[in-house]
Amino acid sequence: MVSLGDVKRSAATLYAQGQHLAALRLYDAIVAAQPLDYDARLRVADCALALGDRGAAQVYRAVGWYCLKSGHPLPALVCARVLEAHGGEAGDLTAALVAHYGSASELLGKVAARISLPADELAIPIPDVRQPAPPDAVAAALARAEQATAALEDFPEAVHAIPLLSAMSEAALRRVLSTMLLKRLPAGAFVIREGEPGTSFYFVASGRLNVWATDGLGRKTPLAELGEGAVFGEMALLSAQPRSASVACATDADVFELGRASLAALADELGAVAEALHGFTRERLLGNLMATSPLFKPFQRMQQRDLLRRFTSHDVAPGTVVIHEGEEGRGLFVVLSGELEVSRRASDGAVPLGVLRTGDVFGEMALLRDVRTIATVIAQRPATVLFLAREYVARIVAAVPEIRKYLEALAEEREIDNQLVLGEEPAPADERILI
Ligand code: CMP
Repeated sequence: MVSLGDVKRSAATLYAQGQHLAALRLYDAIVAAQPLDYDARLRVADCALALGDRGAAQVYRAVGWYCLKSGHPLPALVCARVLEAHGGEAGDLTAALVAHYGSASELLGKVAARISLPADELAIPIPDVRQPAPPDAVAAALARAEQATAALEDFPEAVHAIPLLSAMSEAALRRVLSTMLLKRLPAGAFVIREGEPGTSFYFVASGRLNVWATDGLGRKTPLAELGEGAVFGEMALLSAQPRSASVACATDADVFELGRASLAALADELGAVAEALHGFTRERLLGNLMATSPLFKPFQRMQQRDLLRRFTSHDVAPGTVVIHEGEEGRGLFVVLSGELEVSRRASDGAVPLGVLRTGDVFGEMALLRDVRTIATVIAQRPATVLFLAREYVARIVAAVPEIRKYLEALAEEREIDNQLVLGEEPAPADERILI
């Protein structure tokens, strides 16, 4: 007996190596033991297709219908797409998807159940794939995969909405579905690389993907694991900034890409979709800030949430002055998104000192040294900054030595950088006033 997770990993490896018959036998063993595993059924069809067996079409069809009825519309769309790619007809599946999951569907909005995939930990018997396969292995596996849930009558009476898509009218949903590009990816494949430009976003139909960011030293910070129904890649699209994180497949995965064509197809509903995407982005930015910013590192998760609640959030338009050089330090700022420029007045105009981006902290120099602000900070693009009032910063700095050290090091580093830019002599260390 071997765990379902291990059997899937081995089957995926065999498939990737081109050993389609051996992979099919393992997926078939899963279907025999766990008929509700639609993912294994779909993979049986993939293996049969790779072996040139046209009988796979019947399985995609049966799995597609089962997925639609059991609350898994995106894997159903995968089945429809594969069928169409091989000359099959799948218009009925897509039409049912739109009717069941579009905003006008009566199945949405009630308390919904979903027939889940069996757990990876379940142990199942498997064949020894080193032994020759029985001559009817492919036909038997296809028949089993097609019939696995034929006797099942208890389908959920309501379904969960698909994020974003279920908010659309049937007409818009139909248009958007037709523009979504299916990508069937092996474990290890990258979907997004941090730092690259990006003009599309994605839905996960099946499998698991890891999201992580790297810091200045190249260290990875895991940010999230994504599964069926998750949306990702929306940040670069909305902010016109490079990709903020890398996303790669932890298992074999099916994802749908939505690019410019999808956005164009949305036309009159674009505003609502953009707003929903902004909601994802904001939650994620806050989560990432807590996972990556030295300001939040010393705290436990609950304390991080508490600290975050003390900040107020401000959306600033390009050209907005967030700090005026020479004013009293009002508090500490953190860039949640966007870009701001730091500059100092000089006899011949403003001298740029640097650019602040997502995760950067500013306003610390005046607070730590109890002097007036020494530079102006202006938004260059639409930005969101978080603000923490100086009284609260003083309390944290007094209570948490790690934060005090972090802010002092930041202020010192910036002071030295500024002196280099402005051509000033650095002050001797003992003349610097540190709290
Ligand atoms: P983008 O910056 O375009 O590319 C990387 C994507 O990773 C990003 O959009 C988000 O969709 C996704 N991402 C970043 N942080 C998180 C997170 N904390 N949770 C889930 N997804 C995230």
